[in-house]
Amino acid sequence: MIKTKINDFLKKKNIETKLEHPSVEKFGDFAVRGDVDMSGLDIVEKVDRVAGFSNLWIKENVLIDEAKNILNDEYKNELENIGKGKTVIVEYSSPNIAKPFGIGHLRSTNIGQALYNIYKILGWNTIGDNHLGDWGTQFGKMITAIKYWGMENTIEGLEKLYVRFHTEAETDKTLIDEGREWFAKLENGDVEARKIWQECVDISLKEFNRVYELLGVKIDNAYGEEFYLKMLPEVIQTFKDKKLSKTSEGAEIVEVPDLPPAMILKSDGATTYFTRDLATIKFRKEKWSPDLIIYEVGSEQTLHFKQVFAAAKLVGWDANFVHIGHGLIRWKDGKFSTRKGDTIHLSDIIDKAMEMAKKMAPENDVESIKKVAIGAVKFNDLASDPKKDIIFDWERVMSMEGNSAPYLQYTYARCKSVIQKSKLQTPNFKQDEKFDENEKQLLRYFYIFEEKIVEAGERYSPAVLAEYLLNLARKYNEFYGKCRIVGEPEEARRIFLTSVTAKIIKDGLSILGIETLEKM
Ligand code: ARG
Repeated sequence: MIKTKINDFLKKKNIETKLEHPSVEKFGDFAVRGDVDMSGLDIVEKVDRVAGFSNLWIKENVLIDEAKNILNDEYKNELENIGKGKTVIVEYSSPNIAKPFGIGHLRSTNIGQALYNIYKILGWNTIGDNHLGDWGTQFGKMITAIKYWGMENTIEGLEKLYVRFHTEAETDKTLIDEGREWFAKLENGDVEARKIWQECVDISLKEFNRVYELLGVKIDNAYGEEFYLKMLPEVIQTFKDKKLSKTSEGAEIVEVPDLPPAMILKSDGATTYFTRDLATIKFRKEKWSPDLIIYEVGSEQTLHFKQVFAAAKLVGWDANFVHIGHGLIRWKDGKFSTRKGDTIHLSDIIDKAMEMAKKMAPENDVESIKKVAIGAVKFNDLASDPKKDIIFDWERVMSMEGNSAPYLQYTYARCKSVIQKSKLQTPNFKQDEKFDENEKQLLRYFYIFEEKIVEAGERYSPAVLAEYLLNLARKYNEFYGKCRIVGEPEEARRIFLTSVTAKIIKDGLSILGIETLEKM
């Protein structure tokens, strides 16, 4: 990578400074503060000194080589070295059994999968884990409801049962006690409770797997919360033995510095979400010795994760933990998705996206329509920093001109159609040809692709890459508007630039989990 080469050079010369890309193109490719002597670094063409900065220009042949490395996939070998020998666990998606797959889980799935892909291309040993919400007191309520009103065979049906339980419990308080009893039975391995629970899991997984298939998402592991039950007594005992927990009003609690205490065992003996997360950490450390664990879970669980990480640290199960804490999805009319709004059915969103995509994809080609629709919905989740709330605005999501997946897919298809019109299969231009002003703007932007993949990983933000792809597409379309390509004396160079643009959009979108179309 060009940036790495310059940084290494600066380090060797003991120059401590930050390398940046000037925001204005006429100020060169890189800027460093101060008067820096670049003699001895042969990739640099010239240095301009402006307003306390040294502006560096990279040699054209170096830029061309970088672009060629992208075309022939050589760049992947370089990226792969970055994370070599390191292991990361990316926990994402994690929907809840017997509840519909909501737009919050969709967000976790999309961002989590993109991060997984980013770490993978950076050479990390990457492990995905879907921490299914398949345990907790709600299952006691669920079983009670099923016992009274009968089993359902869809997630929607199960959700209705759960809602009915709460409505009826408002007037009939005994239901709450019954729910608690059924959960105790479930935790103690009662055969009937266990059987009903398993049915709920099967119904839900069937639906989740349908969603994953639709989204083209595959998660390596799905150790749900239930998987950790057998480890809980040991976890609780460890905290007791190390005097890290104490009894308070019948419950066992852990006091973590500067945070409210967390319960590892309830007064009625029920286990908690918190304890299951601690067991998960212990298990992951023993199984994978991760260097990093990323949790892609909504920001409403920030306190929970602070407590979990702090407690893990207290007990000596420390690791490099990151909770991404994605923001809410807000509808364009201003309403936030509430707990209730969060159950907006994913299938409704996909259906509407498919309907709108029909106008964009080649007619009657269901596969292409799906690529546009799913791509648009995914990109909406990925295009802004995960921590930010995002607005769901159908017009923008499906726009062919704006900051959207269809816009990138459309630019890709445009590149492909240009290449197809050209007779130059291998765009060989002569060694001594110079790229003109318009061409150079593109050429100077290609190598930044790799930097952005690295940065997206460092900042846990696929948006870094998404934004770069949009900028590249804008630059290409501007170039396309100004310069004729096929049949011109510059054809070879321009087809080369078109091919590199297409390659970056395709690879970049693929990292984001989005497919391209050859025609649009
Ligand atoms: N199932 C949870 C929910 O939907 C998310 C799980 C988050 N991961 C964790 N390790 N606690 O709220």
